[in-house]
Amino acid sequence: MKKVLAILLAILMIATLAACGNGGGGGSDDKGFVGIAMPTQSSPRWVNDGANLVAQLEELGYRTILQYGEDVVADQIAQIEDMIVQGVDFLVIASIDGSALGGVLAQAAEADITVIAYDRLIMDTADISFYTTFDNFAVGVMQANSLLLGLGINDGATGPFNIELFGGSPDDNNAFFFYDGAMSVLEPLIEDGTLVVQSGQVGMQQVGTLGWAAETAQSRMEDLLNAFYADQRLDAVLSPYDGISLGILSALRGAGYGSEQDWPVVSGQDATRAGVQSIIDGEQFATVFKDTRDLAAATVRIIEAITNGTEPPINNTTDYNNNVFYVPSYLLDIVHVDATNWEVELIDTGYWTLDDFNLS
Ligand code: BGC
Repeated sequence: MKKVLAILLAILMIATLAACGNGGGGGSDDKGFVGIAMPTQSSPRWVNDGANLVAQLEELGYRTILQYGEDVVADQIAQIEDMIVQGVDFLVIASIDGSALGGVLAQAAEADITVIAYDRLIMDTADISFYTTFDNFAVGVMQANSLLLGLGINDGATGPFNIELFGGSPDDNNAFFFYDGAMSVLEPLIEDGTLVVQSGQVGMQQVGTLGWAAETAQSRMEDLLNAFYADQRLDAVLSPYDGISLGILSALRGAGYGSEQDWPVVSGQDATRAGVQSIIDGEQFATVFKDTRDLAAATVRIIEAITNGTEPPINNTTDYNNNVFYVPSYLLDIVHVDATNWEVELIDTGYWTLDDFNLS
């Protein structure tokens, strides 16, 4: 009997260790247990976000579990349910579909778990406490301004310039902030004829890119080029994310841009490795750098404050309404990056190293 019990105990211990390994769990649990649910590993920013959160929390003595939903909503919900069952004290969630988590977060509320929406606001629920993010409207403004810079409009160029617009994923609240921010700059110039959208496609319903997918953007760009730019030049493309910019640039390459004629000015976001390489290669014009280390730090500061019973640091209570309430938020600043400053902003700050890029 004793032997059987010992074997059972050993199996249980191995299973527990394996579960921790699968989820990337670790750290001591003296201070608390934090479940981290991230959307996908397909973009390096989320990989960095997860790693930064784990490192910073474990350094402070928290235990963590990290899971990626790989853009499958049901999987992310199952991962969060599992974290609740495992007894986390905090949930840090970058949602895949911001409106799909109400049910599972009701369970979290019953278990008294503090939920922090990370980067993407979680919509239609009262069961979140905080939101940490970058100034998303400012991201869109910066993307649009990068197009004006590239087109020379700031230096007096009057156009008219042909432009096409791409938005992010309509199930991500951020995508609307990015688009609205960009249009706050572009709309007056479209109205006065400096910029012309030959396709006439404007508004998130027409320009959104489900799942932020490069392939979707590429095929829409190909369609636009075939339908509207067979005998005229496209001068600029508003792109909300480096991954989408890559798809757009592939379509443009196929139509002879970058060889027979100059690339249009293309914006981006996240300073992904591929995006920065594209800037170095003279293809993509600019990106918006969001230092994910700072976002992790802002999130960890809130967790620490709650643990220590002090006031959680927030700096915005008026911009992010999730259809139920204005969520107390902490917004971080962003940085414009192009061929003139990528080394200063990305290498000197240690976000990337020179070895990450091909400079020949
Ligand atoms: C994030 C962006 C990212 C996009 C696609 C958004 O919610 O704020 O940084 O480019 O998702 O992953």
